[in-house]
Amino acid sequence: MSFEVKKICCIGAGYVGGPTMSVVAHQCPDIEVTIVDVNSDRIAAWNNPDLSQLPVYEPGLDIIVEEARGRNLFFSTDVSRAIAEADMIFISVNTPTKNYGKGKGMAADLKFIELCARQIAEVATSDKIVVEKSTLPVRTAAALKSILDNTGNGVNFHILSNPEFLAEGTAITDLLSPDRVLIGGENADAIEALVNIYARWVDRAKILTTNLWSSELSKLTANAFLAQRVSSINAISELCEKTGANVDEVAKAIGMDSRIGPKFLKASVGFGGSCFQKDILNLVYIARSYNLHEVADYWDQVIIMNEHQKRRFADNIIQTLYNTVSGKKIAVLGWAFKKDTNDTRESASIYVSDYLMNEQAQIAVYDPKVVTERIYADLDYLNTRSVDENRAQLEVWKDPYEACKDAHAIAILTEWDEFKDYDWERIKENMKRPSFVFDGRKLLDRQKLESLGFTYYAIGE
Ligand code: UDX
Ligand code: ADP
Repeated sequence: MSFEVKKICCIGAGYVGGPTMSVVAHQCPDIEVTIVDVNSDRIAAWNNPDLSQLPVYEPGLDIIVEEARGRNLFFSTDVSRAIAEADMIFISVNTPTKNYGKGKGMAADLKFIELCARQIAEVATSDKIVVEKSTLPVRTAAALKSILDNTGNGVNFHILSNPEFLAEGTAITDLLSPDRVLIGGENADAIEALVNIYARWVDRAKILTTNLWSSELSKLTANAFLAQRVSSINAISELCEKTGANVDEVAKAIGMDSRIGPKFLKASVGFGGSCFQKDILNLVYIARSYNLHEVADYWDQVIIMNEHQKRRFADNIIQTLYNTVSGKKIAVLGWAFKKDTNDTRESASIYVSDYLMNEQAQIAVYDPKVVTERIYADLDYLNTRSVDENRAQLEVWKDPYEACKDAHAIAILTEWDEFKDYDWERIKENMKRPSFVFDGRKLLDRQKLESLGFTYYAIGE
């Protein structure tokens, strides 16, 4: 039996669901795509006529949304209705690391997924293809299937795993020209229905189909490998600082080996984002649950290295500022976990700032896209100090020159392009002397900064 997909529903209008389904709607004008979310503020923001106010900042997303929204792309809070009407349902809800009970700090919290499955089972009156889009622990599909089959109204559900490989900041190009699309499943017709959607703009040779478990595990493995490259080069960056080697030169030299390749070798203050840490923790948890302790320890080390990199960056600031930052103003340029996104999840800025605040530093933050409330929410979430103390010790500026004024040091924590073009001479004139720059992204030009009189530190040099 072949499936004809006329209506798609996506549950979850976040960083994955929003851009992914906007692109699907854009590329398939004859399919009606409805993205639903329980968060009514988020849905209102997606429906905002002012495209600069979309809840996700992603280059090129506004143009895609403008073209498709109201034509065949809709954003709604009516979850049940969208489920009932859809032939295919994507689940793109968040799966954070559990912060309670068994597997706390390690396992993925599947409560949002389970709620979705129960709601689908309750509402559906016709056969549905259910697609896992969120990053999930291996064998989640089995849990989904069990809930759907045992609580449903006797309709048939076909579960597919279709992991998302987009990277934030380049999501639209990643979605329009993916390296590959991966679809795992058991029912050949259901798989074919999803293949047919992607095949409208992706070469069929790039659409891989596998069994469910391979697809689920491939997503965790891809992120673990990528994160491992960052931790590997970051480990070498510390050695470079001791030996006089330059980590960019090392990265270039090894990256030209075609077996290694040049990507994901940029040393940094540590990786952030919603996926890397969560997925590795999950991999470690799964390995331990099968008693594979060597496998678990191996991947765990990628996280340990990342924690170390953030901490040693902050420690270097303290040491260099004569072993105390108490009462000193430190400007933090960049709060997002990478450039071209307003997402801050697991951003190194949060941890570096918190660490410096423990040493009684006064932090002044500037980020081109992250809103003030988000910055305070990230800090408050750590629970290190009271809400009032966080506001007293950290200020958010809308002007980078104000953030840097009278600072003892500037820490560059996100690689936003605009930082390169600032009037660094003007910044220098308004800073305390000596004027330190700690570049956690190796973004600025050492020669230029030194010629202006800055004392410049970069990771891995
Ligand atoms: C990642 C995966 O790339 C993507 O395929 C998956 O779907 C989700 O997780 P994302 O988290 O959006 O995407 O960003 P990514 O570009 O992978 O960067 C993750 C972190 O690593 C960022 O903090 C980034 O600054 C850092 N990074 C990346 C480095 O420090 N050095 C590098 O060379 C590359
Ligand atoms: P991701 O990066 O995976 O997209 P986000 O946190 O940005 O994660 O987005 C997930 C979205 O899913 C949130 O906006 C959240 O409100 C939504 N969500 C979670 N559970 C449900 C649910 N049961 N029904 C509808 N939406 C949900």
